[in-house]
Amino acid sequence: MASEMLSRSCRLTVGQIRKFHASAPAAAGERIKKFLVYRWNPDKPEEKPSMQEYNVDLNACGPMVLDALLKIKNEIDPTLTFRRSCREGICGSCAMNIQGCNTLACISHIDKNLSKPMKIYPLPHMYVVKDLVPDMTNFYNQYRSIQPWLQRKNEPKSGEQQYLQSIDDRKKLDGLYECILCACCSTSCPSYWWNGDKYLGPAVLMQAYRWIIDSRDESTQARLDQLRDPFSVYRCHTIMNCTRTCPKGLNPGKAIAEIKKLLSGMIKKDSPEINTAALHNK
Ligand code: SF4
Ligand code: SF4
Ligand code: FES
Repeated sequence: MASEMLSRSCRLTVGQIRKFHASAPAAAGERIKKFLVYRWNPDKPEEKPSMQEYNVDLNACGPMVLDALLKIKNEIDPTLTFRRSCREGICGSCAMNIQGCNTLACISHIDKNLSKPMKIYPLPHMYVVKDLVPDMTNFYNQYRSIQPWLQRKNEPKSGEQQYLQSIDDRKKLDGLYECILCACCSTSCPSYWWNGDKYLGPAVLMQAYRWIIDSRDESTQARLDQLRDPFSVYRCHTIMNCTRTCPKGLNPGKAIAEIKKLLSGMIKKDSPEINTAALHNK
């Protein structure tokens, strides 16, 4: 009998096993939460994207949405595909659209209301590589385009000099350097949805601003000139979806407004409070 059951279960396809888990009734003591997850398989391009239902017992699952996704992948459906790494809101890999909001799955609590399913989609208006994995190529190319590194007119050999920065000048980078480049903000921005090829979007613009106002950086003018065209910055219409959605509590909308003020000449970058090249070690 046991061998008959075993051979029968061996004949079940992964799809059948998946269906069984999705439809299993709650046993006593279980708290079954329904998840509806976006699925698309590049190996079957003829099949349209669809929402797949999974049932997860919250009594046997961690509290975060990422815990539920990992449980589904480990125990129900190994084909479900998503990115994650740090599981503590540091790497930005697990950015996705959860219940209509772009956020990080690892720091989003599962809604404990069992009568409502949680809907999970990839970041909106991005090409999808598979399931919850968006194609970030354009986003990273745009980040590369703003040259996100310190630039000096006369750079000494690496390791020969430290550049100085006053405490107050350093404070100007607070609220900017903490960005984890998760792209939640850019993919929530209607201007980025429609002009993502030419408009840089809030995440990349906030990093552009981070280097523009760094007291040690000497490429300020070139950095601003690069943004002077009608699309790179000026597609921002101050809708502020970006700031509302940022899972790190940052304010990219404000950074863009500051760039616009610098571009228009309303404000100028302050001179460094101290001579940034003062300290020579050799
Ligand atoms: S500003 Fe916030 S939402 Fe945008 S990329 Fe950075 S951390 Fe993510
Ligand atoms: S403030 Fe600008 S960048 Fe932010 S969502 Fe609105 S249009 Fe997009
Ligand atoms: S896994 Fe790193 S931010 Fe979520």
